[in-house]
Amino acid sequence: MKSVIKKLLPLVLVFSSPAAMAAGGGGEHLDSAYINLADKASLRRGAHTFVNYCLSCHEASFMRYDRMARDLDIDLTDLREEMMFASDRPGDLMKVNMSAEDAESWLGVTPPDLSLTARSHGPDWIYTYMRGFYRDPGTATGWNNTLFPNVAMPHILYEWQGLRSANFEVASNGAKSLAGFDQISPGSMNAEEYDGAMRDLTNFMVYLAEPAKLVRYKIGIWVMVFMLVFIGLAYALKKEYWRDVH
Ligand code: HEC
Repeated sequence: MKSVIKKLLPLVLVFSSPAAMAAGGGGEHLDSAYINLADKASLRRGAHTFVNYCLSCHEASFMRYDRMARDLDIDLTDLREEMMFASDRPGDLMKVNMSAEDAESWLGVTPPDLSLTARSHGPDWIYTYMRGFYRDPGTATGWNNTLFPNVAMPHILYEWQGLRSANFEVASNGAKSLAGFDQISPGSMNAEEYDGAMRDLTNFMVYLAEPAKLVRYKIGIWVMVFMLVFIGLAYALKKEYWRDVH
C-alpha cells in the first residue's frame, strides 16, 4: 500500500497544485483576490462589469461573445440586451470600436488588450490595482494609482467607489509607502461591496486569460474523486489479501 501511495502522491500533487502565476513587478504589497472559477454567478457579474466599463477602451480580442455566454451560462437575450455594446453578432471577438490612434491622442497610451493580463500580472495584482485609485490633482487625468504610479487610466469605477485621497509615509531612507486612504466623498457602494465587485471582475479576467481552465477545473475535481475512491478500493483489497496471512 505504501508504494501505491508513493506512486500516486506525485500525481495528486500535480493535479492539485494551482498553475504557477507569473507575478508582475516586485516587492509591492498585493491583496489576495481569492478567486473562485467554480462560482459562475461571480463570473457572470464580473463579465457584466467588464463589457460595460472596460471594453470601451480595452479589447479582449481572444474571446468571442458566444463562447463567453456558453461557458458562463449567460442566456442569449441577456447577452444581446445587456452585454453587447461594441458589436452586434454573438460570434464576434471582443474588440473595441475606438482606434488605437484615438486612444493614444486622448490618453497618451494605447490601452493594452486585457485577454492575458491575469496571466501576465496575476489575479492579486489586478485586484489590488482596481482598488488602488485615488485623486491626484498633479496628474493629467486627475487620478493616480498606488500600484501603478502615474497610470494613464482614469478611475473608471469612481462612481462605485467614491473619491479617495491617499496618504503616504516617507521613511528616513526616502522610500514612500502607502499609509492609507481618506474617503473624500462616498460612492454608490461601500468598501465591502466594492471589493466584492472587484473580486468578481478579477475572477472574470482569470477566466478570460484561460477559458480552458473552467473545463480543466471540472475534470480535476472528478480526477480527485476517482483517486480517493481508487485509494479506498486499493486499501480494501490489500486488507482482503492479507486477512488470511495474519
Ligand atoms: C478610458 C479608457 C479606459 C477604460 C474605460 C479602462 N481602462 Fe484600463 N487602462 C487604460 C489605459 C490607457 C491603460 C494603460 C495605462 C498606462 O500604461 O499608464 C490601462 C491599463 C490597465 C491595466 C494595466 C494593464 C497592464 O498590463 O499594465 C489594467 C489591468 C486595466 N487597465 C484594467 C481595466 C479594467 C478592469 C477596466 C474596466 C473596469 C478598465 N481598465 C477600463 C484605459 C482604460
